[in-house]
Amino acid sequence: MKSWAIVVMLATVTSVAALGASHSLGAAAPDGRAVFLQNCTACHEPEGEGGGPYPPLAGDPNVTQADSASLVRLILNGRSGPVSVDGTQYGGDMPGWRAQLSDAQIAAVITYIRSAWGNNAPAVSSEQVAAARLPETLTGAAIFTLKCSACHLPSGQGTDDFPALAGDALVTAADPSAMLGIIVNGRTGPVVLNGKTYSGIMPAWPGQLTDADLAALATYIRSRWGNHASPVTEEDVIAAGPTISLRIGASVFANNCSVCHGNEGGGGVGPALAGNARVTGDPDALLTTIMQGKSSMPSWRGQLSDGEIAAVATFIRTSWGNSASAVSVQAVTAIK
Ligand code: HEC
Ligand code: HEC
Ligand code: HEC
Repeated sequence: MKSWAIVVMLATVTSVAALGASHSLGAAAPDGRAVFLQNCTACHEPEGEGGGPYPPLAGDPNVTQADSASLVRLILNGRSGPVSVDGTQYGGDMPGWRAQLSDAQIAAVITYIRSAWGNNAPAVSSEQVAAARLPETLTGAAIFTLKCSACHLPSGQGTDDFPALAGDALVTAADPSAMLGIIVNGRTGPVVLNGKTYSGIMPAWPGQLTDADLAALATYIRSRWGNHASPVTEEDVIAAGPTISLRIGASVFANNCSVCHGNEGGGGVGPALAGNARVTGDPDALLTTIMQGKSSMPSWRGQLSDGEIAAVATFIRTSWGNSASAVSVQAVTAIK
């Protein structure tokens, strides 16, 4: 609904601009028609009719397709080699515009060609162009194909058992940390999304995806299939780290420690960890206990990754009223 309104608005703005009143736009948003006239008409003609080796853009389904991602990549990177539009083959060089045009200009010109000459497709945002510029975007696609598409489908549409990532509110949330937490740590249902209950298992990927991988993957799923959320950088992933780490720590604790130390760290076979000065004290001594074990406390070296040990140590130092500093993976590695 929203993007439809934008298309209508742009169409109106365009005809106003044609009457010479483009200053009534107010905001400094680039005028897609002007960008088109300046850069594209030499080959595609003013009405997008094309000719010779240059394909028409009016009525071209590759221009108006619902999933605009490949169109954005084409305008950014260019393309050469045969393409067939409406049964006719075209084969020349379409230049890339990544160096000449800004994200906002590229978004404006794409929005323009998608809504001019009878074309009628949703607008493209400059955030989407920014995302497509990142080198990570391709890697993100590769990781998604490898690790995620079996369940969520290459189209991101999901199935009866696996939720759609296209149009998912958590995937496109302004703050990506909750989504990153689920990707790293997995989650077990049931969860209700768009009125449907999913009760499968989303696998965990702790230690298998680097921060850069996560940034690429997150950027990819936030900018595909009609999703238009901002890209996620490696810095964003690092900033979300404490949240993610706590989620991992909580599940490591639940799976490995609570049986002896109690669900709430209140103790059992092993001592209480809540309010325990050895837990909140010197982190190196704590890590040594966890990694080497102590009488009937098992050794976790080799059973848990360094990342998991750092996460569970951080978890027990900050849960149930404990409030000590976080423990880094580097601190765990240094114990070895
Ligand atoms: C120098 C000539 C030239 C210029 C300038 C040019 N294009 Fe192209 N464009 C082409 C050619 C040739 C193709 C076909 C490429 C192929 O064969 O793969 C093409 C293909 C395209 C396509 C894909 C059509 C399809 O169905 O796959 C789009 C969209 C497009 N151009 C948009 C633009 C826009 C927007 C601009 C301006 C920012 C622009 N072009 C500027 C020559 C040009
Ligand atoms: C084995 C199947 C499977 C694979 C592989 C898988 N997922 Fe999932 N995913 C699920 C299931 C099932 C859920 C719902 C989990 C629940 O019920 O809490 C889910 C949930 C999610 C959610 C949360 C959606 C929401 O709004 O709560 C995100 C995001 C997600 N998956 C992303 C990914 C990514 C990215 C990958 C690849 C790294 C991936 N998934 C791989 C099965 C899978
Ligand atoms: C099989 C039962 C058992 C499991 C599982 C277990 N522990 Fe322990 N843990 C103990 C016992 C018993 C002690 C007391 C050892 C001693 O002081 O002789 C202990 C001691 C500790 C201590 C030191 C507390 C103190 O006051 O000195 C910490 C910290 C700790 N465990 C953390 C963990 C963590 C983290 C996990 C999961 C990764 C875990 N434990 C799993 C039984 C267990």
